[in-house]
Formats: sequence, structure tokens, C-alpha cells
Amino acid sequence: MIKPVYILAIESSCDDTSASVICNTKILSNVIANQDVHSKYGGVVPELASRAHQQNIVPVVQQALEQAGVSKKNLSAIAFTKGPGLMGSLLVGTSFAKSLALGLQIPLIDVNHMQAHILAHFIKEEGNKTPPFPFLCLTISGGHTQIVKISNYFEMEILGETIDDAVGEAFDKSAKILGLPYPGGPLIDKYAKLGNPKAYSFTKPKVGDLDFSFSGLKTGILYFIQKQQRINPNFVEENLIDICASIQFTIVEILMEKLKNAVKKTNIKHIAIAGGVSANSEIRSRLLQAEKHFGWTTYIPKFEYTTDNAAMIAITGYLKYLNNNYSDVSVTAQARLKVTE
Ligand code: KG4
Ligand code: ZN
Repeated sequence: MIKPVYILAIESSCDDTSASVICNTKILSNVIANQDVHSKYGGVVPELASRAHQQNIVPVVQQALEQAGVSKKNLSAIAFTKGPGLMGSLLVGTSFAKSLALGLQIPLIDVNHMQAHILAHFIKEEGNKTPPFPFLCLTISGGHTQIVKISNYFEMEILGETIDDAVGEAFDKSAKILGLPYPGGPLIDKYAKLGNPKAYSFTKPKVGDLDFSFSGLKTGILYFIQKQQRINPNFVEENLIDICASIQFTIVEILMEKLKNAVKKTNIKHIAIAGGVSANSEIRSRLLQAEKHFGWTTYIPKFEYTTDNAAMIAITGYLKYLNNNYSDVSVTAQARLKVTE
């Protein structure tokens, strides 16, 4: 019998410290420590994130191993997020992973965070459907908005991307305008469920067929709110659910329009979503509708694999392990890294 492969994976690219243990393609544990410290600042404060990672990393790794029932000596390799992300945050995970791999004398595997968001679809688990190659992935997070064509595990091509803000930023900045704490995306989603998506209309950006732009929308929302508040200072409080529903509707309309363009251009109808914003209920339901209306097959990750998590680093690490694609100890964190690198 072939010996099972156990990999410990570490994710620390932004403001979540996470560790996961995988046995081949099956996740045994996925522990995530969120950092509440940022909410009152309206965004992630890099210095505080880095410090919190340093405090969290040992207990989070310990818990991941315990939950998995795997001891360090049984690990086959250590995988970690190399980038993209905040340098101070990435360095904590990178140095921890390096020291552990060196100490245990096992291979070290660096993982591209953006590839990992996409490859989370290959975790074998009930409720997680695996797409066939080639497929398209709409990668939507706090830092990225891209349509990627995936021809094989590590053969990816960016078909279109944002020219300014990421879609997660559009959610978070809109939420900030409405006085909601960071990260505002999930809150907009929550209030939007109760409101009328057609209550207000916002102008959609005009960019290339497969590209995105969200900075104009954010400014449009800001001016609209300021104008309404001059007439009624309680405008936001009185209409919060309708404002949220209308913002969310506009953003999801933009995403769906671009996906339709990409399908037309490539004739690929296997459509996946990945990244934190793929937790959004409206994009999820619109994709399910597209199955019926346009004959697409859609791949929507389980909630726990949408926002940053180490399970996605673990599956990517496993796929690299199968190819003996290990890193040298001289590997360094990279704040900027494309999904194709
Ligand atoms: O992938 P992720 O956890 O971190 C990055 O790599 O950026 O994505 C975080 C982003 C944040 O902007 C957050 O507001 C957004 O995902 N987000 C959502 C939802 N859940 C998380 N946006 C809209 N609706 C949601 N339900
Ligand atoms: Zn992410």
C-alpha cells in the first residue's frame, strides 16, 4: 500500500492566521484565528497584523495538529503562503514554515495564495465539486478581481482583471461610507438580503470586455450618500437595507456581465468562483441561476474555503508535493506575486 502523505500548511498573508493538516486530498483540520484588532481602524493595519500572527501562529499550528490527530514526526512536508500579501504578515508564516521544515528535515513547499484560492476546488469533500480542465475561475477577494483560465493545476492564464480596486475593496469601502466596521463585505451581504436591490441605481464602469474597475463605483456611491445626507441626515440609517441591496446588486451585475463575456470568448462553460467575495450570497445564487439559463456548470466552494484559510494552501501544497515541486530554504516571501507565477 502507498504511504499516505500528511502536509501541514500555514497561511498568514493578510489578517488571518491559519493552519491546516491534509492527508492526500482530504482535509483533517483547518484552524483559523481571525484578528478583531483591525475592525475599529476600518481596514487591516499591517504592523498589528504581523504582531498578531506572531502571537497566534504557535497555538494555531498546535491546534491544527491536535484536531487532525497527526504528530509532527508523521508529517511529509510543510507548505506555506509565499505571497501575494502583506510583507510583515507573510514573513511570520514563511520563517515559521522554514524553521519547522528544517527542524523536521522534511520538504518545504511554497504556495501562491491566488493559485490556492482556485485550487481549493480540488479538496475532496462532500459539498466541494471539482471542475474539469479547462475551466474559468472568477477570483474575487480583498486584493484581486480576475477571470482566470485554468488549463491544468499550475497552468493558468489571466483573461481579465481589475484596473484599479478589487471587488472586495468595493464592498469594504462602500461599507465604510455607510459607517459599517471592517470587513464590511459580509455585513453588506447580510443587510442586502432584507432590502430592495432596485431601490437605487449606480452607474456601472466602462472598461474592456473582460476587465473590471471599481473605483468609480465607490466614488459614485460616496457622492450619492453625501447628497442624500444633505437632504436627510438620517438617510443611511433609515435606508440601510435598500442601499446595501442596491450596491450588492450593482457589483454582482458587473461580475456576471464579465463572466458572460468570458464564456462567449472562450466557449468554456465550466465556471468556478474563488476568494473571499465568493462567500457572497448574491453571486452564489446568480451563478446557480446561470446553470439553468445559460447551461453553465458552476463550482462554488464551501464557505470555509472562500475567505483566507490554510486548507487551500494544504491542497495546493499536496499537488506540488506529487510533482516533487519543493522549495529551497533560500525561498523568500513575495508581497507581489501573480497567479501565473
Ligand atoms: O480572500 P479574502 O479572505 O482575503 C484576501 O485575500 O483579500 O477576501 C476578503 C474579502 C474582504 O474584502 C471581505 O469583505 C470580502 O472578502 N467578503 C465578502 C463576503 N465575505 C467576505 N464580500 C461580500 N460578501 C460576503 N459575504
Ligand atoms: Zn485571499
